[in-house]
Amino acid sequence: MKVAVVGSTGMVGQVMLKVLEERNFPITELIPVASEKSIGKKVKYKQEEFTIVSMNDAIAAKPEIAIFSAGGGTSLEFAPLFAEAGTTVIDNSSAWRMDPTKKLVVPEINADVLTKEDKIIANPNCSTIQLVMVLGPLNKKYDLKRVIVSTYQSVTGTGKAAVDQLNAEIKGEDAEKVYPYQIFKNALPHCDVFADDDYTKEEIKLMKEPKKILGDDTFNLTATAVRVPVQGGHSESVNIEFENEFDLDEVRKILSETPGVVVMDNVKNNEYPMPLYSEGKDEVFVGRIRRDLSQPKTLNLWIVADNLRKGAATNAVQIAEYLVENNLV
Ligand SMILES: NC(=O)c1ccc[n+]([C@@H]2O[C@H](COP(=O)([O-])OP(=O)(O)OC[C@H]3O[C@@H](n4cnc5c(N)ncnc54)[C@H](OP(=O)(O)O)[C@@H]3O)[C@@H](O)[C@H]2O)c1
Repeated sequence: MKVAVVGSTGMVGQVMLKVLEERNFPITELIPVASEKSIGKKVKYKQEEFTIVSMNDAIAAKPEIAIFSAGGGTSLEFAPLFAEAGTTVIDNSSAWRMDPTKKLVVPEINADVLTKEDKIIANPNCSTIQLVMVLGPLNKKYDLKRVIVSTYQSVTGTGKAAVDQLNAEIKGEDAEKVYPYQIFKNALPHCDVFADDDYTKEEIKLMKEPKKILGDDTFNLTATAVRVPVQGGHSESVNIEFENEFDLDEVRKILSETPGVVVMDNVKNNEYPMPLYSEGKDEVFVGRIRRDLSQPKTLNLWIVADNLRKGAATNAVQIAEYLVENNLV
């Protein structure tokens, strides 16, 4: 299978190549793409070097699958051109996620919505993916009423330039600022740009995308997204009110039986999920599972996942695997 990786030099693109290799995705020809300035440079895949080509050369090669991680503008412009050439695009940007004609997919939750006709498939926001991996099974059992999520997001979620800013600030060097402030020793209640009603776009994505993925708009969700000087993954403090009463042991059992979710919850031994632990792993880790003592039918928990893996690359490769396994490409 011919596979184009668009944005192959970026934070997500580099992990994408690693995940494709680790999972031994059936690639016969790899077509790496990046911006004009990178054409002719090399990327590594399975110990071999591959030359980065232009977007137009990649379209002309008619790959079966193109995985995009190169920003929303690039996806809006080029994903339709790949689709016209017969390629199925899996897009990591926010460009197509809320388009009612496009599917927004977390394979463990809703891969069954995919058909052969889906030529542009949207990968959800990284914070959304780890959230719905936990909300999905609990919604089925107890029916969500209201969710309040506060995030503690890794700088890797902003891309290469943000990691460079943090590393330079740690060394006390002058850094080109991706964020409006220093991020080292800081916490910014500001992920992505401010938009309607003084929410950031990241918060709006978190409030809208889970409803589309779960196919359920009967619950309410509000979010505060915070950037912290961390690199191994995003953390989320989540308060969930259900329509129905729950049993804590049953909640733990449901989550521990959910593929892709690992319950890490033993406070006596100080065991709980952390970005230091999630870095480089594909699973979504959940812990600090406890009743909200302030009101009935309400749960508190803490979710951590590597935003570059399950939050981006792994989820996209899982979509590609599902397409191949079900003859949808
Ligand atoms: N980081 C995350 O956790 C995460 C999670 C989910 C989704 N995403 C999404 O994934 C995308 C990439 O994020 P990132 O963090 O990997 O950013 P990044 O580190 O800044 O990398 C951006 C990549 O896009 C390429 N690119 C930029 N403009 C291009 C163009 N006009 N044509 C072709 N390629 C172009 C860059 O190539 P050059 O090296 O040549 O500049 C680079 O490979 C974004 O849409 C982001 O929203 C990121």
